[in-house]
Amino acid sequence: MNHSILLDRTMSCTVIVGGFFGDEGKGKIVAHVAHEDSPTIISRGGVGPNAGHTVLVGDTEYGVRMVPSGFVYPDARLMIGSGVLVDPRVFLKEVDLVGVDDRIFVDGRCGIIEEEHIKRDRGSEHLKTKIGSTGTGCGPANADRVMRTSRQAKDVPELAKYITDVPLEVNTAIEKGETVLLEGTQGFGISLYYGTYPYVTSKDTSASQIAADNGVGPTRIDDVIVVFKAYPTRVGEGPFTTEMTMQKSHDLGIEEFGTVTRRQRRIGLWDGEMARYSAMINGATQAAITGIDRIDPACYGVTEYDRLTAKARDFITQAEKDIRAPVTLISTGPEMSQIIDLRKEL
Ligand code: IMP
Ligand code: MG
Repeated sequence: MNHSILLDRTMSCTVIVGGFFGDEGKGKIVAHVAHEDSPTIISRGGVGPNAGHTVLVGDTEYGVRMVPSGFVYPDARLMIGSGVLVDPRVFLKEVDLVGVDDRIFVDGRCGIIEEEHIKRDRGSEHLKTKIGSTGTGCGPANADRVMRTSRQAKDVPELAKYITDVPLEVNTAIEKGETVLLEGTQGFGISLYYGTYPYVTSKDTSASQIAADNGVGPTRIDDVIVVFKAYPTRVGEGPFTTEMTMQKSHDLGIEEFGTVTRRQRRIGLWDGEMARYSAMINGATQAAITGIDRIDPACYGVTEYDRLTAKARDFITQAEKDIRAPVTLISTGPEMSQIIDLRKEL
């Protein structure tokens, strides 16, 4: 056993997940952490192409659903873990669009979304209307996967050149002392197990699931960063305890629209009780808060903690009490540079 590797502080595997109902701004947190920590692999877990992430690269806005949002960091290999559903049409289009053909890989065991799954999702009164699904075929594809009738990524010729053993790659990188980021999608509140069933997605979304999606055992995870948004949002149907009226969010100037479906997001106030429960099940070692500039616009673009207003700092203090873990990343605006990073002070 090589103890110098065991003691190497740079060796780490970090999971980044959403703490509320999704769309917390995980993508930006992943991008920032990647630029700071230089991972060799960024691999995603989560459900599949129901996840939407908008990325600004220069002046161009990309909406990605299959490619890990960490693609903006150019020096990592990108992977899609075994647990994730792959829609080959969406995948190939995005790989082309964002230009990652030479550094993206898919696990051969990923379940495949067929056109027929999309039809079933969109044609189902239950899924489309009652649950408010994204209509991307994920629910029916996961159902077929459980029934053991679906195809896997290794059965699709168009994907042949991208196929790898993601768990083997990821665990080997960790053993070599490299840094790995495991990127979650969706959010805690729409977990199949722990969310507001039946108004949930078709799989668990917690940190343990993201590790399992990539074939990484619990003992190998060093950090779990749970991302919370100062004003949580929810798309689709289902309970939302702290929801405000559309009029109120309009008055506050904080309206939002979904990346995948363009639906207007429901917006609510900070939910301390949910944050605590979510941090517990996710095993949060740290938390990120996004959209602090919405709590107090005077914080827009601030990059030092001491420059935050008293109102914002009180908010963070309360959030830390709720989460019971330190808030180490505070996003103060949409751009990559608009962030406060306190991780080194831990
Ligand atoms: P499905 O995952 O498409 O079956 O949709 C089930 C529920 O999860 C719906 O309320 C969707 O709006 C929600 N959902 C699925 N993926 C995401 C996501 O990435 N962000 C936010 N909500 C999501
Ligand atoms: Mg999203």
